[in-house]
Amino acid sequence: MFANRRKDFPTLCADNPPAYLDNACMTLRPTSVIEAIRSYYEVTPGCGGRSVHRYGNAVSRKVNSCRSKLQQLFNANEVGEIVFTNNATHSLNQVAKGLSWNKGDIVLTTDREHNSNLVPWLQLEQEQGIDHRVVHSNYDNTFDLEAFEDACAKAGRKLKMVSLSHVGNLDGVETPVKAAAKIAKDHGAMVCIDAAQSAPHMKIDAQDLGVDFMAFSIHKMMGPSGMGCLWGRMDLLEEMRTIHAGGSTVSTSQYDSLAWSKPPAKFEGGLGNYSGILGTDAALDYISGLDLDAVHEHEVSLNRVMTSIVKDVNGMSIIGPTDPTLRGGICSILLDNLDAHDIAILLDDAGIMVRSGMHCVHSWFNSKGIAKGSLRASSYLYNTEEEVRLFAETLVEAVDALG
Ligand SMILES: Cc1ncc(COP(=O)(O)O)c(C=O)c1O
Repeated sequence: MFANRRKDFPTLCADNPPAYLDNACMTLRPTSVIEAIRSYYEVTPGCGGRSVHRYGNAVSRKVNSCRSKLQQLFNANEVGEIVFTNNATHSLNQVAKGLSWNKGDIVLTTDREHNSNLVPWLQLEQEQGIDHRVVHSNYDNTFDLEAFEDACAKAGRKLKMVSLSHVGNLDGVETPVKAAAKIAKDHGAMVCIDAAQSAPHMKIDAQDLGVDFMAFSIHKMMGPSGMGCLWGRMDLLEEMRTIHAGGSTVSTSQYDSLAWSKPPAKFEGGLGNYSGILGTDAALDYISGLDLDAVHEHEVSLNRVMTSIVKDVNGMSIIGPTDPTLRGGICSILLDNLDAHDIAILLDDAGIMVRSGMHCVHSWFNSKGIAKGSLRASSYLYNTEEEVRLFAETLVEAVDALG
Protein backbone atom coordinates (compact mmCIF):
# COMPACT_ATOMS: atom_id res chain seq x y z
CA MET A 1 0.00 0.00 0.00
CA PHE A 2 2.87 2.33 0.83
CA ALA A 3 5.36 0.61 -1.50
CA ASN A 4 5.85 3.82 -3.50
CA ARG A 5 7.11 5.52 -0.33
CA ARG A 6 10.15 3.22 -0.09
CA LYS A 7 12.04 5.39 -2.55
CA ASP A 8 11.85 8.25 -0.02
CA PHE A 9 14.13 6.37 2.40
CA PRO A 10 17.81 6.15 1.37
CA THR A 11 18.49 3.03 3.45
CA LEU A 12 15.74 1.20 1.54
CA CYS A 13 17.24 2.21 -1.80
CA ALA A 14 20.60 0.52 -1.13
CA ASP A 15 21.42 -2.80 -2.84
CA ASN A 16 19.79 -5.64 -0.89
CA PRO A 17 18.29 -3.47 1.82
CA PRO A 18 17.68 -5.31 5.10
CA ALA A 19 14.15 -6.01 6.29
CA TYR A 20 14.14 -3.29 8.93
CA LEU A 21 11.68 -4.38 11.63
CA ASP A 22 12.96 -2.40 14.62
CA ASN A 23 10.67 0.58 14.17
CA ALA A 24 9.45 0.60 17.77
CA CYS A 25 13.04 1.54 18.68
CA MET A 26 13.50 4.09 15.92
CA THR A 27 12.18 4.52 12.41
CA LEU A 28 14.15 5.16 9.24
CA ARG A 29 14.41 8.74 7.98
CA PRO A 30 13.27 10.03 4.59
CA THR A 31 15.61 12.07 2.40
CA SER A 32 13.71 15.27 3.22
CA VAL A 33 14.62 14.90 6.92
CA ILE A 34 18.27 14.17 6.17
CA GLU A 35 18.39 17.16 3.81
CA ALA A 36 16.82 19.45 6.42
CA ILE A 37 19.46 18.45 8.99
CA ARG A 38 22.17 19.02 6.41
CA SER A 39 20.74 22.38 5.40
CA TYR A 40 21.02 23.62 8.99
CA TYR A 41 24.78 23.12 8.95
CA GLU A 42 25.28 24.16 5.34
CA VAL A 43 22.90 27.09 5.02
CA THR A 44 21.78 28.54 8.38
CA PRO A 45 24.08 27.32 11.17
CA GLY A 46 22.82 29.84 13.73
CA CYS A 47 21.32 30.05 17.19
CA GLY A 48 17.54 30.43 17.28
CA GLY A 49 15.83 32.83 19.66
CA ARG A 50 19.00 34.75 20.58
CA SER A 51 21.14 35.87 17.64
CA VAL A 52 19.38 38.47 15.53
CA HIS A 53 21.55 38.04 12.43
CA ARG A 54 20.18 36.27 9.38
CA TYR A 55 21.25 32.77 10.43
CA GLY A 56 19.70 33.22 13.85
CA ASN A 57 16.48 34.67 12.43
CA ALA A 58 16.13 31.87 9.89
CA VAL A 59 16.50 29.27 12.63
CA SER A 60 14.03 31.10 14.90
CA ARG A 61 11.44 31.04 12.12
CA LYS A 62 11.95 27.29 11.63
CA VAL A 63 11.68 26.62 15.36
CA ASN A 64 8.40 28.54 15.49
CA SER A 65 7.05 26.78 12.42
CA CYS A 66 7.98 23.37 13.83
CA ARG A 67 6.26 24.12 17.12
CA SER A 68 3.10 25.23 15.28
CA LYS A 69 3.08 22.01 13.25
CA LEU A 70 3.27 19.97 16.46
CA GLN A 71 0.49 22.05 17.97
CA GLN A 72 -1.70 21.34 14.96
CA LEU A 73 -0.83 17.66 14.70
CA PHE A 74 -1.88 16.99 18.30
CA ASN A 75 -4.51 19.72 18.60
CA ALA A 76 -2.76 21.45 21.47
CA ASN A 77 -4.58 24.49 22.75
CA GLU A 78 -1.68 26.86 22.17
CA VAL A 79 1.74 26.75 20.61
CA GLY A 80 3.49 27.56 23.91
CA GLU A 81 2.36 24.19 25.24
CA ILE A 82 4.84 22.40 22.97
CA VAL A 83 8.21 21.86 24.67
CA PHE A 84 11.20 20.47 22.77
CA THR A 85 13.10 17.84 24.73
CA ASN A 86 15.84 15.32 23.98
CA ASN A 87 13.52 12.32 23.97
CA ALA A 88 10.40 10.89 25.61
CA THR A 89 12.45 9.99 28.69
CA HIS A 90 13.45 13.63 29.16
CA SER A 91 9.78 14.67 28.76
CA LEU A 92 8.57 12.19 31.38
CA ASN A 93 11.34 13.20 33.79
CA GLN A 94 10.37 16.84 33.36
CA VAL A 95 6.81 15.99 34.43
CA ALA A 96 7.80 13.75 37.35
CA LYS A 97 10.53 15.99 38.70
CA GLY A 98 9.04 19.35 37.80
CA LEU A 99 5.79 18.93 39.73
CA SER A 100 5.56 19.27 43.50
CA TRP A 101 4.83 16.21 45.63
CA ASN A 102 3.88 15.48 49.18
CA LYS A 103 4.86 12.35 51.03
CA GLY A 104 2.18 9.70 50.43
CA ASP A 105 0.88 11.19 47.15
CA ILE A 106 -0.22 8.25 44.99
CA VAL A 107 0.92 7.75 41.39
CA LEU A 108 -0.59 4.93 39.32
CA THR A 109 1.05 3.29 36.31
CA THR A 110 0.35 0.00 34.52
CA ASP A 111 2.44 -3.17 34.87
CA ARG A 112 3.79 -2.84 31.28
CA GLU A 113 5.58 0.50 31.36
CA HIS A 114 8.83 1.32 29.60
CA ASN A 115 11.49 2.23 32.21
CA SER A 116 11.04 5.85 31.12
CA ASN A 117 7.57 5.85 32.66
CA LEU A 118 8.51 3.74 35.66
CA VAL A 119 11.97 4.73 36.87
CA PRO A 120 11.21 8.47 37.42
CA TRP A 121 8.26 7.47 39.64
CA LEU A 122 10.35 4.89 41.50
CA GLN A 123 12.99 7.55 42.00
CA LEU A 124 10.37 9.90 43.47
CA GLU A 125 9.24 7.09 45.73
CA GLN A 126 12.82 6.62 46.98
CA GLU A 127 13.68 10.28 47.29
CA GLN A 128 10.41 12.03 48.15
CA GLY A 129 8.21 9.33 49.61
CA ILE A 130 5.44 9.28 47.01
CA ASP A 131 3.47 6.03 46.80
CA HIS A 132 3.83 4.47 43.35
CA ARG A 133 1.24 1.77 42.66
CA VAL A 134 0.94 -0.62 39.74
CA VAL A 135 -2.38 -1.53 38.11
CA HIS A 136 -2.19 -5.05 36.74
CA SER A 137 -3.36 -5.81 33.22
CA ASN A 138 -5.71 -8.59 32.15
CA TYR A 139 -4.13 -12.02 31.49
CA ASP A 140 -3.55 -11.05 27.82
CA ASN A 141 -1.95 -7.67 28.68
CA THR A 142 -5.02 -5.65 27.73
CA PHE A 143 -5.89 -2.81 30.11
CA ASP A 144 -8.11 -3.79 33.02
CA LEU A 145 -10.40 -0.78 33.31
CA GLU A 146 -12.21 -2.27 36.31
CA ALA A 147 -8.96 -2.86 38.22
CA PHE A 148 -7.91 0.67 37.30
CA GLU A 149 -11.16 2.15 38.59
CA ASP A 150 -10.77 0.16 41.82
CA ALA A 151 -7.18 1.38 42.23
CA CYS A 152 -8.33 4.99 41.76
CA ALA A 153 -11.13 4.52 44.28
CA LYS A 154 -8.78 2.86 46.78
CA ALA A 155 -6.26 5.71 46.41
CA GLY A 156 -9.01 8.25 47.14
CA ARG A 157 -7.90 11.80 47.78
CA LYS A 158 -4.24 10.81 47.79
CA LEU A 159 -4.38 10.05 44.05
CA LYS A 160 -2.26 12.72 42.41
CA MET A 161 -1.14 11.33 39.07
CA VAL A 162 -1.99 8.58 36.62
CA SER A 163 0.81 8.00 34.09
CA LEU A 164 0.06 5.46 31.37
CA SER A 165 1.64 4.21 28.18
CA HIS A 166 -0.75 4.95 25.32
CA VAL A 167 0.56 1.95 23.36
CA GLY A 168 2.97 -0.53 24.94
CA ASN A 169 6.37 -1.08 23.33
CA LEU A 170 6.35 -4.56 24.88
CA ASP A 171 3.35 -5.81 22.95
CA GLY A 172 1.66 -3.05 20.93
CA VAL A 173 -1.43 -3.09 23.16
CA GLU A 174 -3.32 0.20 23.36
CA THR A 175 -4.61 1.66 26.63
CA PRO A 176 -8.15 3.12 26.44
CA VAL A 177 -6.73 6.47 27.50
CA LYS A 178 -9.87 8.53 27.11
CA ALA A 179 -11.89 6.25 29.40
CA ALA A 180 -9.03 5.96 31.92
CA ALA A 181 -8.45 9.73 31.89
CA LYS A 182 -12.13 10.35 32.63
CA ILE A 183 -11.97 8.05 35.67
CA ALA A 184 -8.69 9.58 36.88
CA LYS A 185 -10.09 13.10 36.50
CA ASP A 186 -13.23 12.15 38.42
CA HIS A 187 -10.83 11.28 41.25
CA GLY A 188 -9.04 14.62 40.93
CA ALA A 189 -5.79 13.25 39.50
CA MET A 190 -3.56 14.59 36.75
CA VAL A 191 -3.05 12.35 33.72
CA CYS A 192 0.16 11.92 31.75
CA ILE A 193 0.52 9.65 28.75
CA ASP A 194 3.62 8.11 27.29
CA ALA A 195 2.77 8.43 23.60
CA ALA A 196 6.16 7.23 22.29
CA GLN A 197 4.53 4.25 20.54
CA SER A 198 1.24 5.90 19.55
CA ALA A 199 2.25 9.30 18.14
CA PRO A 200 3.95 7.81 15.04
CA HIS A 201 1.05 5.50 14.24
CA MET A 202 -2.27 7.15 15.00
CA LYS A 203 -4.08 10.47 15.03
CA ILE A 204 -3.99 11.97 18.51
CA ASP A 205 -6.11 14.81 19.76
CA ALA A 206 -4.56 15.66 23.13
CA GLN A 207 -7.51 17.81 24.20
CA ASP A 208 -10.09 15.22 23.23
CA LEU A 209 -8.22 12.50 25.16
CA GLY A 210 -8.67 14.59 28.29
CA VAL A 211 -5.07 14.24 29.46
CA ASP A 212 -2.74 16.84 30.98
CA PHE A 213 0.68 15.81 29.67
CA MET A 214 1.88 13.81 26.71
CA ALA A 215 5.48 12.67 26.09
CA PHE A 216 6.80 11.32 22.81
CA SER A 217 9.95 10.76 20.77
CA ILE A 218 10.59 12.30 17.37
CA HIS A 219 13.04 9.54 16.36
CA LYS A 220 10.13 7.09 16.24
CA MET A 221 8.33 9.47 13.85
CA MET A 222 10.95 9.53 11.08
CA GLY A 223 12.70 12.49 12.71
CA PRO A 224 16.24 12.89 14.06
CA SER A 225 17.54 10.97 17.05
CA GLY A 226 17.95 12.98 20.24
CA MET A 227 14.68 14.85 19.66
CA GLY A 228 11.57 14.49 21.76
CA CYS A 229 8.60 16.54 22.82
CA LEU A 230 6.45 17.26 25.84
CA TRP A 231 2.97 18.66 25.48
CA GLY A 232 1.34 19.95 28.64
CA ARG A 233 -1.66 22.04 29.60
CA MET A 234 -0.51 25.65 29.91
CA ASP A 235 -1.80 26.18 33.46
CA LEU A 236 0.21 23.14 34.62
CA LEU A 237 3.31 24.11 32.65
CA GLU A 238 3.18 27.55 34.24
CA GLU A 239 3.23 25.95 37.72
CA MET A 240 5.86 23.33 36.92
CA ARG A 241 9.57 23.80 37.78
CA THR A 242 12.15 23.30 35.07
CA ILE A 243 14.65 20.48 35.56
CA HIS A 244 17.04 22.15 33.14
CA ALA A 245 17.68 25.74 34.27
CA GLY A 246 20.00 28.17 32.48
CA GLY A 247 20.04 30.24 29.29
CA SER A 248 16.54 30.78 27.78
CA THR A 249 14.79 29.61 30.94
CA VAL A 250 14.78 33.11 32.46
CA SER A 251 13.74 36.45 31.02
CA THR A 252 16.27 38.20 33.29
CA SER A 253 18.46 37.61 36.30
CA GLN A 254 20.17 39.60 39.07
CA TYR A 255 22.94 38.34 41.36
CA ASP A 256 20.28 37.33 43.83
CA SER A 257 17.06 36.80 41.86
CA LEU A 258 15.59 35.79 38.54
CA ALA A 259 12.40 35.96 36.49
CA TRP A 260 11.40 32.71 34.83
CA SER A 261 10.51 32.73 31.15
CA LYS A 262 7.05 31.62 30.12
CA PRO A 263 6.62 28.05 28.82
CA PRO A 264 8.02 26.60 26.65
CA ALA A 265 11.28 28.62 27.04
CA LYS A 266 11.30 27.92 30.79
CA PHE A 267 11.94 24.24 30.03
CA GLU A 268 14.36 24.61 27.12
CA GLY A 269 17.59 25.51 28.89
CA GLY A 270 20.77 25.90 26.86
CA LEU A 271 21.43 26.05 23.15
CA GLY A 272 18.87 23.92 21.31
CA ASN A 273 19.28 20.99 18.97
CA TYR A 274 18.54 23.20 15.96
CA SER A 275 19.53 20.71 13.30
CA GLY A 276 17.21 18.30 15.13
CA ILE A 277 14.38 20.81 15.10
CA LEU A 278 14.82 21.45 11.36
CA GLY A 279 14.79 17.69 10.83
CA THR A 280 11.68 17.43 13.00
CA ASP A 281 9.98 20.11 10.90
CA ALA A 282 10.62 18.02 7.78
CA ALA A 283 9.48 14.82 9.51
CA LEU A 284 6.22 16.54 10.48
CA ASP A 285 5.67 17.56 6.86
CA TYR A 286 6.20 13.94 5.87
CA ILE A 287 3.92 12.47 8.52
CA SER A 288 1.21 15.06 7.84
CA GLY A 289 1.06 13.83 4.25
CA LEU A 290 0.11 10.33 5.42
CA ASP A 291 -3.26 8.85 6.22
CA LEU A 292 -2.38 7.52 9.69
CA ASP A 293 -5.48 5.28 9.77
CA ALA A 294 -4.18 3.62 6.61
CA VAL A 295 -0.68 3.31 8.15
CA HIS A 296 -2.22 1.57 11.17
CA GLU A 297 -4.26 -0.75 8.93
CA HIS A 298 -1.13 -1.60 6.93
CA GLU A 299 0.80 -2.44 10.13
CA VAL A 300 -2.03 -4.62 11.39
CA SER A 301 -2.19 -6.46 8.05
CA LEU A 302 1.57 -7.19 8.32
CA ASN A 303 1.08 -8.32 11.89
CA ARG A 304 -1.65 -10.71 10.71
CA VAL A 305 0.87 -12.33 8.36
CA MET A 306 3.55 -12.70 11.10
CA THR A 307 1.01 -13.94 13.62
CA SER A 308 -0.45 -16.57 11.27
CA ILE A 309 3.04 -18.00 10.62
CA VAL A 310 4.32 -18.17 14.21
CA LYS A 311 1.24 -18.60 16.36
CA ASP A 312 0.98 -22.39 16.41
CA VAL A 313 4.67 -23.24 16.30
CA ASN A 314 6.04 -25.20 19.27
CA GLY A 315 8.69 -23.38 21.28
CA MET A 316 7.38 -19.85 20.80
CA SER A 317 4.47 -17.69 21.91
CA ILE A 318 3.35 -14.16 21.16
CA ILE A 319 3.16 -11.67 24.03
CA GLY A 320 -0.28 -10.06 24.35
CA PRO A 321 -3.61 -10.84 22.70
CA THR A 322 -3.74 -13.50 20.00
CA ASP A 323 -5.71 -11.09 17.79
CA PRO A 324 -3.14 -9.02 15.84
CA THR A 325 -5.58 -6.13 15.48
CA LEU A 326 -5.01 -5.51 19.20
CA ARG A 327 -1.22 -5.36 18.79
CA GLY A 328 -0.82 -2.74 16.01
CA GLY A 329 2.54 -3.20 14.31
CA ILE A 330 4.24 -5.12 17.13
CA CYS A 331 4.80 -8.87 17.22
CA SER A 332 6.85 -9.71 20.32
CA ILE A 333 7.73 -13.38 20.63
CA LEU A 334 8.88 -15.44 23.63
CA LEU A 335 11.22 -18.30 22.75
CA ASP A 336 11.06 -21.27 25.13
CA ASN A 337 14.53 -22.72 24.74
CA LEU A 338 16.53 -20.15 22.81
CA ASP A 339 18.20 -16.88 23.66
CA ALA A 340 16.48 -13.99 21.87
CA HIS A 341 19.81 -12.17 21.30
CA ASP A 342 21.33 -15.25 19.61
CA ILE A 343 18.35 -15.47 17.26
CA ALA A 344 18.44 -11.72 16.55
CA ILE A 345 22.10 -12.05 15.49
CA LEU A 346 21.22 -15.00 13.28
CA LEU A 347 18.34 -13.04 11.72
CA ASP A 348 20.65 -10.09 11.10
CA ASP A 349 22.91 -12.43 9.12
CA ALA A 350 19.84 -13.23 7.02
CA GLY A 351 19.19 -9.51 6.43
CA ILE A 352 16.42 -9.11 9.03
CA MET A 353 16.68 -6.52 11.80
CA VAL A 354 14.58 -6.98 14.92
CA ARG A 355 15.00 -6.13 18.60
CA SER A 356 15.83 -8.69 21.28
CA GLY A 357 15.86 -8.52 25.06
CA MET A 358 13.55 -6.86 27.55
CA HIS A 359 12.91 -3.67 25.54
CA CYS A 360 13.34 -1.54 28.71
CA VAL A 361 10.29 -3.24 30.24
CA HIS A 362 12.38 -5.28 32.69
CA SER A 363 9.71 -5.05 35.37
CA TRP A 364 7.19 -7.03 33.29
CA PHE A 365 9.68 -9.79 32.39
CA ASN A 366 11.04 -9.97 35.95
CA SER A 367 7.54 -10.24 37.42
CA LYS A 368 6.92 -13.26 35.18
CA GLY A 369 10.36 -14.83 35.81
CA ILE A 370 11.27 -14.59 32.10
CA ALA A 371 15.03 -14.10 32.04
CA LYS A 372 15.64 -14.30 28.30
CA GLY A 373 13.44 -11.49 27.07
CA SER A 374 11.66 -11.64 23.73
CA LEU A 375 12.25 -11.11 20.05
CA ARG A 376 10.29 -8.10 18.82
CA ALA A 377 9.42 -7.29 15.21
CA SER A 378 7.82 -3.89 14.71
CA SER A 379 6.72 -2.51 11.37
CA TYR A 380 6.07 0.88 9.82
CA LEU A 381 4.57 2.18 6.61
CA TYR A 382 7.51 1.17 4.37
CA ASN A 383 7.60 -2.49 5.41
CA THR A 384 6.24 -5.07 3.02
CA GLU A 385 4.51 -8.43 3.27
CA GLU A 386 7.63 -10.11 1.82
CA GLU A 387 9.74 -8.66 4.63
CA VAL A 388 7.52 -9.83 7.48
CA ARG A 389 7.08 -13.22 5.81
CA LEU A 390 10.85 -13.53 5.53
CA PHE A 391 11.19 -12.67 9.22
CA ALA A 392 8.53 -15.10 10.44
CA GLU A 393 9.57 -17.99 8.17
CA THR A 394 13.28 -17.60 8.99
CA LEU A 395 12.44 -17.51 12.69
CA VAL A 396 10.35 -20.68 12.46
CA GLU A 397 13.19 -22.44 10.60
CA ALA A 398 15.69 -21.35 13.27
CA VAL A 399 13.48 -22.51 16.11
CA ASP A 400 12.87 -25.85 14.34
CA ALA A 401 16.59 -26.34 13.82
CA LEU A 402 17.91 -25.13 17.18
CA GLY A 403 15.04 -25.22 19.66
C1 LIG B 1 6.66 3.23 25.23
C2 LIG B 1 7.99 3.93 25.28
N1 LIG B 1 8.17 4.90 26.17
C3 LIG B 1 9.31 5.58 26.26
C4 LIG B 1 10.36 5.28 25.42
C5 LIG B 1 11.64 6.05 25.57
O1 LIG B 1 11.78 6.86 24.46
P1 LIG B 1 13.07 7.76 24.28
O2 LIG B 1 14.16 6.85 23.87
O3 LIG B 1 12.68 8.75 23.26
O4 LIG B 1 13.37 8.40 25.58
C6 LIG B 1 10.24 4.28 24.47
C7 LIG B 1 11.37 3.90 23.60
O5 LIG B 1 11.42 2.83 23.06
C8 LIG B 1 9.01 3.59 24.40
O6 LIG B 1 8.82 2.62 23.50
